[in-house]
Amino acid sequence: MLMKEKNVKPADGKLGIMVVGCGAVATTFMTGVLMTRKGLTKPVGSMTQYDKIRIGKGADKKYLHYKDIVPLAKLDDIVFGSWDVYPQNAYQSAMYAEVLKEKDINPVRDELEKIVPMKAAFDKNYAKRLDGDNVKDCKTRWDMVEAIKQDIRSFKEKNGCARIVVIWAASTEIYVPVYEPVHGTLADLEKAMKADDREHVAPSMCYAYAALTEGAPFIMGAPNTTVDIPAMWELAEKTKMPIAGKDFKTGQTLVKSGFAPIIGTRCLGLNGWFSTNILGNRDGLVLDEPANFRTKEVSKLSTLETILRPDVQPDLYTDYYHKVRINYYPPRNDNKEGWDNIDIFGWMGYPMQIKINFLCRDSILAAPLLLDLTLLSDLAARAGRYGIQRFLSFFLKSPMHDYTKGEEAVNNLYQQYTMLKNALREMGGYEADEEID
Ligand SMILES: NC(=O)c1ccc[n+]([C@@H]2O[C@H](COP(=O)([O-])OP(=O)(O)OC[C@H]3O[C@@H](n4cnc5c(N)ncnc54)[C@H](O)[C@@H]3O)[C@@H](O)[C@H]2O)c1
Repeated sequence: MLMKEKNVKPADGKLGIMVVGCGAVATTFMTGVLMTRKGLTKPVGSMTQYDKIRIGKGADKKYLHYKDIVPLAKLDDIVFGSWDVYPQNAYQSAMYAEVLKEKDINPVRDELEKIVPMKAAFDKNYAKRLDGDNVKDCKTRWDMVEAIKQDIRSFKEKNGCARIVVIWAASTEIYVPVYEPVHGTLADLEKAMKADDREHVAPSMCYAYAALTEGAPFIMGAPNTTVDIPAMWELAEKTKMPIAGKDFKTGQTLVKSGFAPIIGTRCLGLNGWFSTNILGNRDGLVLDEPANFRTKEVSKLSTLETILRPDVQPDLYTDYYHKVRINYYPPRNDNKEGWDNIDIFGWMGYPMQIKINFLCRDSILAAPLLLDLTLLSDLAARAGRYGIQRFLSFFLKSPMHDYTKGEEAVNNLYQQYTMLKNALREMGGYEADEEID
């Protein structure tokens, strides 16, 4: 077992986790962390709290929790902050979301009530179905950046935080395709912010810009373009801050990225993969708007592209039909139901079908990802890692990669897990490897 010198700063002091959006996902995450801290629940599904990684080989091998390999922030050191378009505090918002039962919220009611969202940097054109008025009065996109920077500074000071991480768990914005003249370089992006180019600069970009310039890692939990543009990569390099995104990999896409490798590894063919969902929470309402759904669709469709590749296996994967649908259906609220119909073919081209029916809970699946992504981004910053954190692809539907350098996304869940384990081994001073265990 090779032990190099560890070069990661300790996780001393408080870690401020500032969540953009104080909705279903954010409040389920916060409530779970606070309840775990009191010993009243278990953080099931969280890799940072449960998973063990093998270190060393043969007789030397050991399986260690992440915290025993690298210095991770403790749950007790977390302080939550938030922004939202609606003024309700995290307790009210958790009750409204109806993800968790009252009995699982009440023991931490006092703490949740103290999490009062700051005014949002918001533009109604980016999410037409929202009508809250807890919104900053900003003349330009640059004003938005300045106001968010001020919020981060005040929060950090008021709560005595040593470090801050900003994570987006707000609604999906309308689709903003990469537009080279604005998104290509940092100078162009700044120019567009100052010129108040509302078409190409989404509010989420203002949060990201503010976080990175205030020395905080930024994570994009929705499929928004936000940090997935060369201008933001440049900013992350300049400020030496980690970025990660996009889109939490929770229900159907988790299953897809874990299941598609079965078809690919066995060299079975694919004719089509049809995925549909019903979802009734506020996220579903926002995604019912075609411009917002488009952002999600692009993200969800990308999953199969690098797992079942027609250029590598033209006989098996040429022209398969891949469709993803999300239908807003209020009676189910946060309890999403997903159906997958997979048309495969085998020996001599004979067709077969696979059906998957996942009755999941959206925010229950997402909450542990927020914990893992924030703790691991904070770790990455202390380890001196900056720019796109590809080792976090494991948690994301549409993982970021530098496409200008010909990098490709890794969507295969098991390859992503290897990347995650190796990054932790490296940060812990151990040798990266690809042993199967
Ligand atoms: N739950 C999952 O499985 C899952 C998976 C992947 C991605 N996501 C994404 O996570 C996000 C949150 O999901 P949710 O179910 O909590 O939705 P939600 O509607 O309950 O919460 C989102 C909140 O964000 C607020 N908001 C919107 N724009 C804002 C802005 N500019 N600034 C501050 N606040 C703003 C809204 O008012 C709302 O309260 C969505 O974008 C969703 O697509 C969720």
